[in-house]
Amino acid sequence: MKKVRKAVIPAAGLGTRVLPATKVMPKEMLPIVDKPAIQYIVEEAAASGIEDILIITNRGKGLLEDHFDRAPELERRLSGDPNKAAVLEQVVGISKLANIFYVRQKETKGLGHAIRCAKEFVGDEPFAVLYGDDVILGEDPACGQLIRAYEQFGNGVVGVKEVTREAIQKYSSLQVKPIRDNYFLCTDMIEKPKPGEEMSLYSILGRCVLPPEIFDILDQTPPGAGGEIQLTDAMKTLARRDGMTAVDFTGTRYDMGNKLGILQASVEVALNHPEIGTEFRAYLKELCKTL
Ligand code: UTP
Repeated sequence: MKKVRKAVIPAAGLGTRVLPATKVMPKEMLPIVDKPAIQYIVEEAAASGIEDILIITNRGKGLLEDHFDRAPELERRLSGDPNKAAVLEQVVGISKLANIFYVRQKETKGLGHAIRCAKEFVGDEPFAVLYGDDVILGEDPACGQLIRAYEQFGNGVVGVKEVTREAIQKYSSLQVKPIRDNYFLCTDMIEKPKPGEEMSLYSILGRCVLPPEIFDILDQTPPGAGGEIQLTDAMKTLARRDGMTAVDFTGTRYDMGNKLGILQASVEVALNHPEIGTEFRAYLKELCKTL
């Protein structure tokens, strides 16, 4: 079995739920305290053993490339100040996290269409997908949990969580049977189910590991919900044909594609932040008294 060495991060969405912040600023660059969302995602991939990452971008996402590049002027300035040694190390470290490549999705035709842009990069290897607006924080990197499931069961893997009946209409719903522990066999799925169409309350949240055969399936997948080529529709074909492993992963997932998710991420990360955590907790406690 081939090792999972490559990851794809789709980041070419329009971010219409976070306008006007995302008119110019890619939503993947929105900070959670002091780091842009996409850096947490790249760090998760690197901590999961991924060596090569392809970020799918589009017009106006140049900031993403700049963030993972060296910044000689800034580095020169920081290196002249002994008090800034730690921050210099962080800044330089960003450009060394992984080998990062970029490709543009020329039209915003959906997540499935975005993943199709990764065909040449992926070749004939299995690969991980980390959605560019889903930040998952935890001791054990979520992507690594999925890779371990791929190594054990050998078929495609989706990262899942149970969500509420109201929320599931915005996501996907999976037909699942328990295997053991937090592993399930998934044999069918539906994107954005209407009330009554749910197969379970398990939904794919932000991570999967796919075999390269997904590209042939994507080529045959017509536009689905919202008129977009949906990755879920292609994974449905894979799940029905070969079965997929669903992993109820550990870690907290923040949806950086909506306003509430962005705030939840900021507050929770700030509470545990080594530099501002204590002060922020005290501030929040005081604030809560006035609510
Ligand atoms: P979303 O549907 O959450 O992203 O896609 P969006 O289109 O930016 O959302 P709206 O406009 O607020 O509803 C999930 C992931 O797929 C990427 C997004 O960047 C996000 O990481 N995506 C989506 C693409 O790369 N290309 C697309 O055509 C659509």
